[in-house]
Amino acid sequence: MRTKLVAGNWKMHGRREMVASLVPTLVSRLPQGPEVAVCVPFVYLSDTQAAIGGARLQLGAQDVSECEDGAFTGEISAGMLNEMGCRYVIVGHSERRARHAESSQRVAEKAAAALRAGMTPIVCVGETREERLSGRTATVIAAQLAPVLALGASLVERLVIAYEPVWAIGTGLSASVAEAAEVHADIRAALAKVSAAAAKTVRILYGGSVKPETAPALFAVDDIDGGLIGGAALDAEAFLAICNAAV
Ligand code: G3H
Repeated sequence: MRTKLVAGNWKMHGRREMVASLVPTLVSRLPQGPEVAVCVPFVYLSDTQAAIGGARLQLGAQDVSECEDGAFTGEISAGMLNEMGCRYVIVGHSERRARHAESSQRVAEKAAAALRAGMTPIVCVGETREERLSGRTATVIAAQLAPVLALGASLVERLVIAYEPVWAIGTGLSASVAEAAEVHADIRAALAKVSAAAAKTVRILYGGSVKPETAPALFAVDDIDGGLIGGAALDAEAFLAICNAAV
C-alpha cells in the first residue's frame, strides 16, 4: 500500500508574503492520509521551513546540483538542501530539461546526489505534443527513465517518479485518465524490471493541469499515487481540494 503524495511546485512564483499566508493555511487544514509537500524557490526554503514548524507538511526544492559542494557558481548542493530541511527535490522537470538543456543522464546524477544526501528526488518524465502525436510516448519515457533506472535497485526503490506530459503543463489540458493510466502502467512495468520492490513501493505522480475537478478521477487509478501540482498549488483552496482528493 503506497501513501499518496501531493507535491506543490511553486516554480518561480511567490514572495515572502505568499509563504506567510499560504503555508500556515495549508498547515492548519492538511487532510489526514496523503503526504503533502511544497517545493518552493530556494530563497524561500528557510521562511517556509519556519512556517511549517513541526507540522506534517513536507518541504521540497525544485532542483539540485549533481555535484558535491565546490566551485559551481549559482548551484545549490544536495547537502545544502538537506540542511534546510528538504525532504523532497524535483529533478528533471521539463522546464529545466528544455530551458537548461538537462540531459537524462544529468537528471539521474541529480537524483543520485539527492539520495546520497538522504532526500527523495521526484524525477520528472514526459513527452511533448509532437512526440505523442507521432506515437513515440513510450519510447521517450523509456529513454528518459533509463539512466535513472540504471542507478540500481537499492536507489530506485527510494525514488518518486512524476509523469508530466509537457503538453499538459500549464495549458489547462490535462491528460485523460486513460492516457495517464497507460503511461503510469508502463513506468510501473519498467520499475518491475529493476526490482519487484521498486514496482511495489515507488510512487508515480501525475502532473499537468491537475485541478480540483480532475484530481479525484486521476487519483482513483491504481498506478497514480498522487500529483505534482503547478498552478493550482499557488491557491490554498485549490491545492487543499486536490490534497483532499488524495485521501
Ligand atoms: O510541476 C508541476 C507541473 O509542471 C504541472 O504544472 O499544474 O501548472 O500544469 P501545472
